[in-house]
Order: sequence, then C-alpha cells, then structure tokens
Amino acid sequence: MIVQSQRDLAGLLRIGKVVGLTLEHMKAATRPGMTTAELDAIGAEFLRKEGARSAPILTYKFPGATCISINDEAAHGIPGPRVIQVGDLVNIDVSAELDGYFADTGATVPMLPIAPLHQKLIDCTQSALSKGIAAARAGRPVNEIGRAMEAVVRGAGFRVIRDLPGHGVGRKLHEPPSVPGFYNARLRDKLTEGLVITIEPFVSLRANRIYAAADKWTLKTPDGSTAAQYEHTVVITRGEPLLVTKV
Ligand code: CO
Ligand code: CO
Repeated sequence: MIVQSQRDLAGLLRIGKVVGLTLEHMKAATRPGMTTAELDAIGAEFLRKEGARSAPILTYKFPGATCISINDEAAHGIPGPRVIQVGDLVNIDVSAELDGYFADTGATVPMLPIAPLHQKLIDCTQSALSKGIAAARAGRPVNEIGRAMEAVVRGAGFRVIRDLPGHGVGRKLHEPPSVPGFYNARLRDKLTEGLVITIEPFVSLRANRIYAAADKWTLKTPDGSTAAQYEHTVVITRGEPLLVTKV
C-alpha cells in the first residue's frame, strides 16, 4: 500500500507495534525444551489480546498463528511437536492484521551456545537488514535494497536465498512490489514516498534456493545448510525509512 493519510499511517503503526511486541514477547519466551507449538501459542494469545488476527491464517489458512522455522528450515515452518534444542537457530515470523492494516516482522533467535559460524550468519543477516533499510529511499530503484544486502552477504561468504523476497504489505499481507534480497537488474520498480514494504534478507551458509518439504508449507534449504532471516515493515520516505515494526 501507499500511505495516503494520517489514518493510514496510524493504522499501520498500530499493527506494526502489535506484531513487533508479539515478536519480542515470543523471543523472550523461546527456550530449549519447549515445542514450537508452545511458542506459537504464546504469540497467538498475545495477538488475540491485542485484537489482531494472524495474517498467515487469514490469508493462507496456515496451520499456525506464526511461522517458526529452525536451522535448515528457512521459512513457513509449521508450529508443532518439534522440541527446540540448544544450538538451534529459531526463526520466528509474525504477521497480523488489525482494522484492515497488515504488518510483518521476523527474527532469528539463537539458542545459546551456538556454533561460531552460526553467530557469524546471524550477525551478517542483521547487518544485511540494516544496509537494506539504509538503501531504501524514495526515488531510488527497489533493487538498490537487494544490491546493498547482497554485498554484505557475499562479503561474509554466505548466500542470499533468492526465492524468498520482501514484498509490499499494508492492506494485504503480500502486495507488489517484490523486494528481492539480491540485485536483480531487470527490476524496474522505483521506491515512492509512502510505499510500505518489508525488507527481509534470507541468508544461508551455502544454499541460494529453497524447496517445500513434504508438509507442503515448510521451506527448507536443499543441502541442509542453516538459514537466518530478519524482517521489518517500513514506510519509504525521502529520508530514512520509517520502521513500522521496530519496538
Ligand atoms: Co514475515
Ligand atoms: Co514478509
């Protein structure tokens, strides 16, 4: 969506805060020994109390309020009986709707202690998100975001998962434009003032693609290499983007 009024902005900021707080609450609760279903239930209850509706359920009838993806699961992991272990990288992705507005955020939570290489992966992915946000400015091509993120990832010796782009968001969970995590020279879209998008680098140790697992939802790296993701919903301005999901 493009923010066109104070009402739009207020609505977006409201749901942005809700998903941001839900993510923080879930991050703080994540522990080895708990199941991903238990972790999801904490998020579901938080969203419910805030009057928000899970966007994956609303939009795709996803079998969980949030997506919880561990290690080689890059995205769309179904909350269930899997028990979180020490050393895991647990990705939590929260998106929801309130009063007709949608926001989307995500983070990878390390179950310490983790392997040094996995710490490097997390640091790199966070840094890619920061650089992607810094490159997002009205008047520039959308693909400047991917260019900035890809440079960070390549520099660290990791790979961007190319088939998991960021996206427009706001009135629906997934809207145009696509916001790839890499530089795609063919993309012609420009960032405009008020445009609402997600910036969400998916980075893995080796894989640059994913495949859908037997459950038809979970997206895994084909070679089993570990992945990480961080995501914010932002509003494009002539200066620094407005971080809608930062709390
Ligand atoms: Co997300
Ligand atoms: Co997203």
